[in-house]
Amino acid sequence: MSKSEGWGSRVGLILAMAGNAVGLGNFLRFPVQAINNGGGAFIIPYIVCFLLMGIPLLWIEWSTGRFGGKNGNHSTPFIMGSLGKSSLWKYIGVFGIFTNIGVAAYYCYIESWTMAYVYHSVAGTFDGLSQSQVAAFFGSYIDVFHSTTGIPFEAVLFFLVCLGLNTFILSRGLDGVEKVAKIGMPLLILFGVVLAIRGLTLGTSGASAEHPTASAIDGLNFLWTPQFDSLTNPKVWLAAAGQIFFTLSVGMGSIQCYASYLKQRDDVALNAASAGFMNEFVEVVLGSSIVIPIAAGYLGLDWVKENAGFGMAFQTMPYLFEKWGPVLSMVAGVMWFGLLFFAGITSSLAMGTPWMGFMHDEFGWKRQKGAWSFGLIILILGLPTVFFYHQGVFEEYDYWAGTVSLVVFALIETILFAWVFGINNGWKEITRGADMKVPEFYKYIIKYVTPVLLTFVFLGSLITPKGNNWKVEISNLFSGNGWTLDNGSIIKQITNAGIYEQIAAATDPAVVLQLQDKLFYVNGARILLLLTFAGICFLVYLAHNKRKLKGGTA
Ligand code: ALA
Repeated sequence: MSKSEGWGSRVGLILAMAGNAVGLGNFLRFPVQAINNGGGAFIIPYIVCFLLMGIPLLWIEWSTGRFGGKNGNHSTPFIMGSLGKSSLWKYIGVFGIFTNIGVAAYYCYIESWTMAYVYHSVAGTFDGLSQSQVAAFFGSYIDVFHSTTGIPFEAVLFFLVCLGLNTFILSRGLDGVEKVAKIGMPLLILFGVVLAIRGLTLGTSGASAEHPTASAIDGLNFLWTPQFDSLTNPKVWLAAAGQIFFTLSVGMGSIQCYASYLKQRDDVALNAASAGFMNEFVEVVLGSSIVIPIAAGYLGLDWVKENAGFGMAFQTMPYLFEKWGPVLSMVAGVMWFGLLFFAGITSSLAMGTPWMGFMHDEFGWKRQKGAWSFGLIILILGLPTVFFYHQGVFEEYDYWAGTVSLVVFALIETILFAWVFGINNGWKEITRGADMKVPEFYKYIIKYVTPVLLTFVFLGSLITPKGNNWKVEISNLFSGNGWTLDNGSIIKQITNAGIYEQIAAATDPAVVLQLQDKLFYVNGARILLLLTFAGICFLVYLAHNKRKLKGGTA
């Protein structure tokens, strides 16, 4: 991205920002999180997290991005560096490039599945297949070395095509990103509305002899009947907060990058709120009206609860569409996987921009070089997710880059903004040029409530108690019996405690070998991520020295 670059129009900017947020997370991750956390029990914490963490973080990121752009900074290391005196902030800003690269590496892979499934919907691959055959097709697709989908190494091929397309669009700069958002977002919403109407009107018409009680309404009731008892369950709060970060793309660094191309008097308050609410509309209204009601409508709610997982969209939906006849099933397949593709690409493009912005600002790399180097990095990091999906590489990236990093970065940037830069300066940034009256109480929310909540979320993830049973562990702690960590807690994840426990419990030597294999790949994935992080730190160090030599603002 070059310094003279900017957004073509306000509509283009909002669509690009909304496209950055609206992604696979809205359609694949949200329904699964909602199901796994009790449906209606999830919605209240989710909305509270949106209002108390999501919206404040959007304002923080948009305004710091625009602030950084004033001095020609388009990525978080030097944007964060301009908010405080210590050079530590620049290195915290490394998260804002790292997270994008780490997430893009596995995100582009899922995005490539959606391309492949558009192709197979048109080619009629799913015609006449049973539910288990459709599920088996997906299994075969991701089992790269033994795939029998008809195209050799199909998953690798589509991954390369998808990555190539992303890289090509990125090489056209913000203009390319804006064009894709202007075409992709309206189409996505159109496809989403059509499919959601189907989901909302299916009722009990999908029930069959095999699933006589199947009902789409059960799915909707499950999601929309609020359950207040969830308010005291930290597990649900952590899941809700994690979903808010992922879906809004906050704590990633891409929003700051996009916003750095704004002019100093451009509004951020209303733009940020509009993009955020547009994302929530797509997630809460459309995201919950497609997979769950349609799957519940044909297979029953119990089946959905037992089989929740984002593979559901690939393993089940093509089979359910088949029930609508040959033509409609093709149309629905193209709409559903096309929708996912547009959702995905408008987000993955955003993930490329911080790297490009950084390399341009600091080392004078032109758009082409920035884009193709990003493509190369994602190729190197992404291929292990393609080849070793079953060995846990994909999940490892999602955990460290797509979950933990977001929370850590969001927490530190909020403290930097509200306490180091100072809330008064920060508030001026948020409200300068604002096209809406930003409610004054958000000043206090940003200063006190958001950092405290983020700290809870971080600590909660760090020391998650065994079985997520907070009550038991808190009483254990007070009665002097210590605190037993869950294998899902960050501390236990670092030590791979879960895999070691499985190895210790396994009696079948083949299973032990498989788990040892997994350990190898999981550690390999971590090394790749650590090298990426260290590499970006080194580049920031070089850039810092370069600026010092020039006598500029290092
Ligand atoms: N915000 C993007 C999504 O929801 C990353 O998929």
